[in-house]
Amino acid sequence: MRILITGCDGQVGGELKPALAPLGEVVAVNRCQMDLTSAESIRACIRAVQPHLIVNAAAYTAVDKAESEPELAQRVNGEAFAIMAEEARNIGAAIFHYSTDYVFDGSKPTPYIESDAPNPLSVYGSTKLAGEQALAAAGIPHLILRTSWVYGVRGKNFLRTILKLAAEKPELRIVADQFGAPTWSRDIATATASIAARWRAGDPAEYTGVYHLPRWGETSWYGFAAEALRLRALAHPEAPCARLLPISTAEYPTPAARPKNSRLDCSKLSQAFDIRLPDWSASLTAVLQELE
Ligand SMILES: NC(=O)c1ccc[n+]([C@@H]2O[C@H](COP(=O)([O-])OP(=O)(O)OC[C@H]3O[C@@H](n4cnc5c(N)ncnc54)[C@H](OP(=O)(O)O)[C@@H]3O)[C@@H](O)[C@H]2O)c1
Repeated sequence: MRILITGCDGQVGGELKPALAPLGEVVAVNRCQMDLTSAESIRACIRAVQPHLIVNAAAYTAVDKAESEPELAQRVNGEAFAIMAEEARNIGAAIFHYSTDYVFDGSKPTPYIESDAPNPLSVYGSTKLAGEQALAAAGIPHLILRTSWVYGVRGKNFLRTILKLAAEKPELRIVADQFGAPTWSRDIATATASIAARWRAGDPAEYTGVYHLPRWGETSWYGFAAEALRLRALAHPEAPCARLLPISTAEYPTPAARPKNSRLDCSKLSQAFDIRLPDWSASLTAVLQELE
């Protein structure tokens, strides 16, 4: 199997190459090698590589900036997939694509399942939903893996920001009324590899669709930060560490609105692919060790 990974410089994309390597020949491309704002670039790259599977980790992910750049976000997160899917169809390739909890408005009192109606609150969420819809309409074998609160050892993410600020400031105010599951980018890559192995062995048409891929368990941004700083203090009791103050979403206004409930039920994925991800806090410990 030849696998094309897009967005290989990103948090998830950077973890995918080693995770997918045991499954076949892996070609990993960055923005220079495949620019999702350019139909020509998308077509040329796919025609050159001739993959059996495209794993798309490239995306416009600047949630707040998207509010002032809606056209660009829509081109990258929405329109690019119609082109990618057309090329995939021409060569008989499948697509695995990542999407987000931000397709939901967060008003549901319980975790979201795949068939719940999306209702994005932000430009980012709307464009990611457009990408899902473009892929679903393309009539090719595909998986849409919705994940949440991605972090890891590389790139810009909540964990790395909190660790930096906690060493610099006396106090940090963190939102405590948005709930979800922090998800380590490497866990996403590992799960993607397991799914791809099962997919290859079975009937792709049977598996095509949307799946939720969050960590097991849930917390708030405040809970995530508190656990990260608790673990960091255990390892470095002498290091300066900010005091955390829980605040409400209303006290931390941002250009893009976020769902208060970002919890995704991942039972469908567990049942289809026999995958059960462990609790988010176990991965946090591993990431902190790697960041040492
Ligand atoms: N981050 C989260 O909290 C989160 C939550 C839920 C779902 N997701 C989804 O998970 C997937 C992976 O996210 P991530 O956290 O790994 O994102 P990331 O670290 O921001 O990586 C995204 C990658 O996409 C590339 N990219 C941006 N614009 C591009 C363009 N026009 N053409 C080609 N490549 C482009 C970026 O390139 P450069 O490196 O050159 O900028 C970057 O390497 C995305 O689909 C995202 O929507 C993320």
